[in-house]
Amino acid sequence: MSQRSNVTRREFGRRATASVLMTGVGLARGAQKTAVLPRPLKVGWVGTGGRGTGLLNNALKIEPGLQVTKVCDCNKAAATRAAEIITKHGLPAPKLFTDGDWAWQKMLQAGSLDAVIIATPWKWHTPMAVAAMNAGITPAVEVPCALTSEECWQLVDISEKTGVECMMLENWSFRPDNLALLNMVRAGLFGTIVHVHCAHSHNCVDHWFFDAQTGADRWPAEYLVRFNRDQYPTHSVGPVLSWCDINCGDRFTSISSAATDSLGINDMFKRRFGADHPSATRRYAQGDIVTSTLRTEKGRTVIINYDMQLPRPYDNRWMLQGTRGVYSEERNAIHLAGRSSTPHGWDPFPPYEQQYKHSWSTQSPVGGHGGADGVELRVFFEAVRDRRPLPLDVYDSVTMSAIVDLSGQSIAKNGQPVPFPDFTRGKWRTTQPKFAVDPLFAKQ
Ligand SMILES: NC(=O)c1ccc[n+]([C@@H]2O[C@H](COP(=O)([O-])OP(=O)(O)OC[C@H]3O[C@@H](n4cnc5c(N)ncnc54)[C@H](O)[C@@H]3O)[C@@H](O)[C@H]2O)c1
Repeated sequence: MSQRSNVTRREFGRRATASVLMTGVGLARGAQKTAVLPRPLKVGWVGTGGRGTGLLNNALKIEPGLQVTKVCDCNKAAATRAAEIITKHGLPAPKLFTDGDWAWQKMLQAGSLDAVIIATPWKWHTPMAVAAMNAGITPAVEVPCALTSEECWQLVDISEKTGVECMMLENWSFRPDNLALLNMVRAGLFGTIVHVHCAHSHNCVDHWFFDAQTGADRWPAEYLVRFNRDQYPTHSVGPVLSWCDINCGDRFTSISSAATDSLGINDMFKRRFGADHPSATRRYAQGDIVTSTLRTEKGRTVIINYDMQLPRPYDNRWMLQGTRGVYSEERNAIHLAGRSSTPHGWDPFPPYEQQYKHSWSTQSPVGGHGGADGVELRVFFEAVRDRRPLPLDVYDSVTMSAIVDLSGQSIAKNGQPVPFPDFTRGKWRTTQPKFAVDPLFAKQ
């Protein structure tokens, strides 16, 4: 048998031992839960449109005792629909807050919530999360959690001042293949990580920025008219943070971004709605493809592509390279020096994904994106209930989101590097990796 098979057997043995330990960890946590919060979690929802409703359905499946006691949406029909979902699960009807754009303030000020899920248009994310923290309520806020560096600092400042944590719901960080890769990175299979490439290649102009049937603007459309930047970096860079120990051993130091011309949106309107449609000739600031290069303190580079307005199938193109190997999500393949079946060839990734499966990925998947949506909510609720640190903290959340504004600044300066703020105020030097640390695969 090959050396690889022997290693595999050893690793399986280690995994079995660790599995026993994990059971113990689970029991200890259970005992702590009762001591810390001896009642079901009370959670509020702000924004029950497409995403908020999806999150609500997932939450009710994974947390049977969850009490969704308050729901806010300025669209009364959306809030009422959410209330019906909640009562159909046999839970009491929530109190609704539907009176205008600011009703969420009343909801948060009314207190008696442990956490709030925020799934509203982008401009509301920071004000809502800040108000929640000020009210002692832990916010889980959709992506991106902030649109400017000032908003990023506001979230950090308020979280530090109040001691209330804040987590952005970046679901791709919880995807089973990305978590398995994280276990492999931490087990040292790739040696020292040198470079990562990632993309959010997702045609959203035909259904999300604009109405799919009529082409009318939806709320995010105005950002394409006004700004030229990476509008949606968190789904690509989310898992990269933990692969590269960003904020826990390393940090981003600068970002340089370039954008192509904006052709795709006009062309989509011409193709689908005719050249006479007003949006077919409107000028959009947003270039079709934005390429950002980030450098880190430890000499790594990360390339991120924004790619949301040309016709194409979905893709993330995660590619991770270290001194001892390379992973390609696009090829679903891996090469490890001295371990792969041929000196320069690719091996299939799925056997590795199975072998290094993260303990978070072992339950039946709930929700979209390979079960990632269910996992992110489950571990968020567990952390709030157990009074443990949130899986993604405020520093990780704003680091991902800051790319929106910083990429725009660099594009406006013709690609000049823009300094990346150290939101941790130096804590990245001493903070140990903590996201999704899996005792099964801790570095030996
Ligand atoms: N993580 C993911 O995979 C994913 C997927 C889709 C959307 N999202 C994010 O979710 C968020 C919502 O997107 P969506 O597609 O659900 O949008 P949506 O338009 O379908 O829903 C937004 C909801 O917020 C409500 N709302 C607007 N202003 C409000 C206010 N001031 N107070 C209370 N409610 C208000 C609207 O009435 C609407 O019901 C966005 O931040 C988006 O980026 C994330």
